[in-house]
Amino acid sequence: MTLELITAGESHGPALVAIVTGLPAGLVLDRAAIDADLHRRQQGYGRSPRQRIEQDEVEVIAGLRHGRTLGTPLALVVRNRDHANWEWGMRPWPPEGEPSGKGTKTMTLPRPGHADLAGALKYGLADVRDALERASARHTAVIVAAGAVAKALLMEIGVDVGGRVVGDDLERRVDEARAERDTVGGVVEVRAGGVPPGLGSYATKEDRLDARLAATLMGTQAVKGVEIGEGFALADTLGSNAHDEIHRDEGRGLYRETNRAGGIEAGVSNGEEIVVRAAMKPLPTLMQPLASVDLETREPGEALVERSDTAAVEALAVVAEGCVAFELARAAREKFGGDSLADFLAAHRTYLERIDWQPRTR
Ligand SMILES: Cc1cc2nc3c(=O)[nH]c(=O)nc-3n(C[C@H](O)[C@H](O)[C@H](O)COP(=O)(O)O)c2cc1C
Repeated sequence: MTLELITAGESHGPALVAIVTGLPAGLVLDRAAIDADLHRRQQGYGRSPRQRIEQDEVEVIAGLRHGRTLGTPLALVVRNRDHANWEWGMRPWPPEGEPSGKGTKTMTLPRPGHADLAGALKYGLADVRDALERASARHTAVIVAAGAVAKALLMEIGVDVGGRVVGDDLERRVDEARAERDTVGGVVEVRAGGVPPGLGSYATKEDRLDARLAATLMGTQAVKGVEIGEGFALADTLGSNAHDEIHRDEGRGLYRETNRAGGIEAGVSNGEEIVVRAAMKPLPTLMQPLASVDLETREPGEALVERSDTAAVEALAVVAEGCVAFELARAAREKFGGDSLADFLAAHRTYLERIDWQPRTR
């Protein structure tokens, strides 16, 4: 039993769609909680006016009845309200009548740092819009919705996942960058408490929880580095200061004084808090356009400036939280199985009794 996620949807198309398979039957979902995460993704210092157009809400069109999962594929839809302005330009079927609204002109100047050039070459596209529409981070809205569903499942086994921006000088950096018509990136951190030892496996590299968390975060737009626990800093540390010694006492059972490994050893959760960080590059669409070359005329030009954020680090923290939650929920489904929530919880309880493990609070 595992959890799978497939998504579809373009940035200015009619809607974004996520299908989640492998949920147990009987999980209660709270629409307001999913919408609250969608709202959080749209907040944050440095976002563009598009966030005022898109006030995302989830629609569920399959897999749920009266707020409870049916154990069948769950289909989540987030409509793109901005599609109204792109109706002709992004119509799925050949449009009739006079072009109107946005997205009607062929885009031939690829923006550096985006999917535009690589996508146009790879797929043989005359209009780079056909690449950028799917590559856009607008897609992360349904990732967050699926992450909220995963968090509901994790909460049932006492796992709590939270993302945040690392560093407290983001607003100053955004203000400075905006004044220069520039952009910034940053670092986000996701912590998950209450994760039992034994999620993931060292059996194959595909099973490793660290590899899976790194893949899901790297699979997110603009993420260029991932570290688990003390990550890159460990490279400069002596072995005697790099690991988490194991202790035991009657009250606490087995415990660690430190968590340098970020809760994962040999690709398996070790019962400590999971700590993962992701580095985000500065957003590639600048209000002072970067140099490019027109793919049609072969003449030098300036990359098109599409309405864009100065920073989206706070949004990434919410997206990263959803990604990590989904991957942990997937690993928990693999470990505890069960067609119904009751079966899943019973397997979790039996396992915790066997290993005599209590969640830690640090
Ligand atoms: C939440 C979020 C919002 C983003 N918003 C923008 C944006 O407004 N403008 C922009 O140029 N890039 C934005 N990006 C980054 C691009 O989507 C990304 O850099 C681009 O698709 C190329 O992918 P890569 O950076 O992973 O190579 C955003 C990324 C995230 C995660």
